[in-house]
Amino acid sequence: MTAWLLDPEAIHLNHGSFGATPASVLEAQQAIRSRIEANPTRFFLEGEYQASLDEVRRVVARFVGADEAGLVFVTNATAGVNAVLRSLEPSLSPDDEILVTDHEYNACANAAVVSASRAGAVVTTAPVPFPLEDCGEVVDAVLGAVTDRTRVLLIDAVTSATGLVMPIAELAAQLEPDVRVLVDAAHAPGMIDFDVTQLGVSYVTANCHKWMCSAKGAAFLWVRPDRRDGMHHSVISHGYNGGWPSGGGHLHAQFDWTGTHDPSSWLTVPDALAAVEAMHPEGWSGVKTTIRELCLEGRRKLIEALEIEAPAPDDMIGAIASVPLPAADNSGSAIFDPLMAALRDHHGIEVPVFTWPAPPERVLRISAHLYNRPEDYDLLAKALVGELRAG
Ligand SMILES: Cc1ncc(COP(=O)(O)O)c(C=O)c1O
Repeated sequence: MTAWLLDPEAIHLNHGSFGATPASVLEAQQAIRSRIEANPTRFFLEGEYQASLDEVRRVVARFVGADEAGLVFVTNATAGVNAVLRSLEPSLSPDDEILVTDHEYNACANAAVVSASRAGAVVTTAPVPFPLEDCGEVVDAVLGAVTDRTRVLLIDAVTSATGLVMPIAELAAQLEPDVRVLVDAAHAPGMIDFDVTQLGVSYVTANCHKWMCSAKGAAFLWVRPDRRDGMHHSVISHGYNGGWPSGGGHLHAQFDWTGTHDPSSWLTVPDALAAVEAMHPEGWSGVKTTIRELCLEGRRKLIEALEIEAPAPDDMIGAIASVPLPAADNSGSAIFDPLMAALRDHHGIEVPVFTWPAPPERVLRISAHLYNRPEDYDLLAKALVGELRAG
């Protein structure tokens, strides 16, 4: 059996959106589901679920440099961002500001808009240039947008459409504790070196189903010790008044049980970490180095084919990278540009083309993982130039 279930007929250059899960991890997930179904009452109520989850928490905490007391599971980074913003609403006053950048992932920016409107607060946006020369431009743009009303900065560790590794620690050093920094690290763990407690921020949420390669529906939220009071899931359940008997305190109790759900994706995270680690002779550090180098190689090929300058320095690139494309009249208002369908339908290449920052401008984003080869990017470069010429 091959390591991945990816369709061999397609070239997969979109690990960024949904990740990919090794076949062995999906088998482990099926075994977990069978264990649950053998006796759901025993699994959920007689200690198996809580013990399994606490063990996964220990493994994930070690992988991302978190303390177990502050680490809980959610189904995705979107849910993690929502939980933090919902919890902060009572502390916001009218005219307080939640700051985002214009590279913010749309779903999470929407969550900021809704939380701000409930509290009478406002969302402000820092315009971060792209292309850019160095990460100092990000720091200047964000700090330049901070006012004495800014209470929260919501920022991606690796931006979605533009694929930039953001200078989170530098920003946090300037802003915390007056401005709470909430990091949407959807892409970070498993892609770049990433240690949540070293960042100096209040909150970090990240997906396990992207670069940690777990089954889909697994993510975590870490909350710094001084921010744990008043923190709750957006779904209020038994744990709110202590009705879920987690041994890990109020934070765990509220997130460990949000109603009946399939926890098997959370429980596959240790299997995923072990499976990917075993794919490289140097384990995870080798994986991260290999996929980053491959991504940079792919980006070089695209830059050459498009005859453009690198839109960002190499040190702001992990395993996804975006290049700006010529503006297109037909891009409409959808998040994805029609060129994405052309590359898929005519060339069998799955690669996202985002309308960014707004139509008619657009960017194409590649990804690199262990299942990719340098030739994938040669084929993309050729197909892209052909499609752009054809208009
Ligand atoms: C920066 C960022 N945040 C959040 C998400 C959302 O991830 P999910 O759909 O798993 O919540 C993505 C997805 O690509 C992302 O790029």
